[in-house]
Amino acid sequence: MPFLEHPALCCPLDGLPLELQSGCMRCASNHSFDIAKQGYVNLLSAQDKRSKDPGDSQAMIAARHRFLQSGHYRPIADCIGDVLLPYLQGEALVVDAGCGEAYYLDCLRERMLASAITEPLMLGFDISKWAIQSAARRFPATWLVASNRNIPLVDASVDVLIDMFGFADFASFARVLKPSGVLLRVQAGADHLRELRQIIYPTLKERDSSLSVPEGFSLVQRKQLGFRLSDLDSQDISDLLLMTPHLFRASAQGKQRAAALQSLSLNVDVSLELLQRD
Ligand SMILES: C[S@@+](CC[C@H](N)C(=O)[O-])C[C@H]1O[C@@H](n2cnc3c(N)ncnc32)[C@H](O)[C@@H]1O
Ligand SMILES: [Zn+2]
Repeated sequence: MPFLEHPALCCPLDGLPLELQSGCMRCASNHSFDIAKQGYVNLLSAQDKRSKDPGDSQAMIAARHRFLQSGHYRPIADCIGDVLLPYLQGEALVVDAGCGEAYYLDCLRERMLASAITEPLMLGFDISKWAIQSAARRFPATWLVASNRNIPLVDASVDVLIDMFGFADFASFARVLKPSGVLLRVQAGADHLRELRQIIYPTLKERDSSLSVPEGFSLVQRKQLGFRLSDLDSQDISDLLLMTPHLFRASAQGKQRAAALQSLSLNVDVSLELLQRD
């Protein structure tokens, strides 16, 4: 897939604009970043890495891809489309921060194309190179390996920022958003995957579902989305465990109980918040 450069891209080391020059992105201080043949650029600086292979592993990305492609979370993607469509007119720059393998960005793009909205300018980044390699196979866009802590985009350049089940950094989000730009956050609610959590944990911790509006933002709207996933099979169950932090937190016995399941029905409960930059 070809890499699509964007004028908002900046150097992660000094913030200077990046330009395409003989197959790499380069700033005026001569820092250069190769464009991978898969169609993305790695703009993660050494100080933004907390490990050698940061973010979700190749196995986690593959599991999330299988699970999401089977359509189990389609109602979440549809709801995001409903909320964001009014903000996507014109040449809006849409950025998914921690996009994973970019299922939601792909659904949003399909929705925009079906609604005859101008070809969207889409940018997805994730700290995991495995996520971005998988995302870049979907459609040509500006795909970056980068961190929320140091987003390689110039100030006030983004119209719509998406943070789905991610690791928000509100100071960075506020910096890159245009003054009237919006941030869509999707987070797990108190009942999210309750039945699975009951199986893998000896005692179920109640989730704190109180949501506070981060500094620098005002709440535009909040929605709670709940639906039932029926008859997940053993592959779905193992993928779901692998794609969430539960796999790391569950006890060995809990994981064994989950591995023995042949089918499971469970609740999906997520909150969507649309926030506007002050
Ligand atoms: C629970 S997954 C959600 C992925 C995607 N948004 C989705 O809903 O399908 C969280 C993602 O955040 C990424 N991540 C973790 N720390 C990050 C950081 N500091 N900056 C950007 N992405 C990060 C992980 O690699 C992973 O792909
Ligand atoms: Zn530079």
